[in-house]
Amino acid sequence: MQNRPVFILAIESSCDDTAAAVLKNDKVLSNVVANQAIHGEYGGVIPELASRAHQQNIVPVIDAALKRANVQKEDLSAIAFTQGPGLMGSLLVGSSFAKSLSLALGVPLIAVNHMQAHILAHFIDEENFDKPEFPFIALTISGGHTQVVKVNDYFDMEIIGETTDDAVGEAFDKSAKILGLPYPGGPLIDKYAQLGNPKAFAFTKPKVPGLDFSFSGLKTAILYFIKKNVAENPNFIEENRDDICASIQHTIIEILMDKIKMAVEQTGIKQIAIGGGVSANSGIRKTLKEAESKYGWKTYIPKFEYTTDNAAMIGIVGYQKFLSENFEKSDVVSKARIAF
Ligand code: KG4
Ligand code: ZN
Repeated sequence: MQNRPVFILAIESSCDDTAAAVLKNDKVLSNVVANQAIHGEYGGVIPELASRAHQQNIVPVIDAALKRANVQKEDLSAIAFTQGPGLMGSLLVGSSFAKSLSLALGVPLIAVNHMQAHILAHFIDEENFDKPEFPFIALTISGGHTQVVKVNDYFDMEIIGETTDDAVGEAFDKSAKILGLPYPGGPLIDKYAQLGNPKAFAFTKPKVPGLDFSFSGLKTAILYFIKKNVAENPNFIEENRDDICASIQHTIIEILMDKIKMAVEQTGIKQIAIGGGVSANSGIRKTLKEAESKYGWKTYIPKFEYTTDNAAMIGIVGYQKFLSENFEKSDVVSKARIAF
């Protein structure tokens, strides 16, 4: 049984990306993502538009994933899908499709927790990427989540810190909106930050006890800072865009680093992995790499294509669950909120 390769088709549709991937054991054969540009016009994700776009995209995306992998439906060993957390209307498109396909092909159905998948993406077999050893600390930083997780084993994870209000991705996106940048603004702040001085402007860091985070105060501080300066100089944003972005990004990175240092102190674990859309940020990636020699940590930074939402990460969890025969019946329900 173990010698026969396992082919997993994975489907991810928790938010505004429709994604499908095919894995052969722990290797990714194809990883297809259709982004929904429509939300940019509204400055955020509109749930009804997202689920409608998933319905339009899901068949071509799955088709493309199978074709690029050169795998026939009949070769599939199981279908994995995102059970939650996410937008209910979006999750239902992926889960309904996965259920129908597993029934039609007579192969097992596997439900995957999206946040666990952001962490376990590090176990995808990739050249030049080491896999973490248990236990390690994972920082899941995305548009919907900011969590510090103690990962004891594949499916033994403890959340030891999380945001009490906005997620770090929201802090990036809302700051970008204040600067008049389109949604999602995180990648643009990253781009302009690379051209600016991170110490040009200082923003007060929130004081939150323990390993928890708060980002709503920072957003308000940035809003007032911009309003005050624009009142004095209407061209303030245009003239200082790169420095403002660099300073915002620098503050956010310091907030994250302070908590990672605290997590290392509390647990004694010096292996740190990051995951989620914000782990694409070049400043965070660089700071964490530098921390290896500075603090003696081993850091795990995902390959770029596994940072923002994708189905390859759903597939690697699907593979692990396939090995332990952790399957679902077709009455398994999608969950907008879901614990580890
Ligand atoms: O994981 P993800 O694709 O979706 C969620 O599960 O939320 O994360 C999306 C978030 C958005 O807030 C986006 O602005 C942010 O990740 N993001 C970035 C960068 N790339 C994506 N934030 C900062 N710098 C980036 N380079
Ligand atoms: Zn995500």
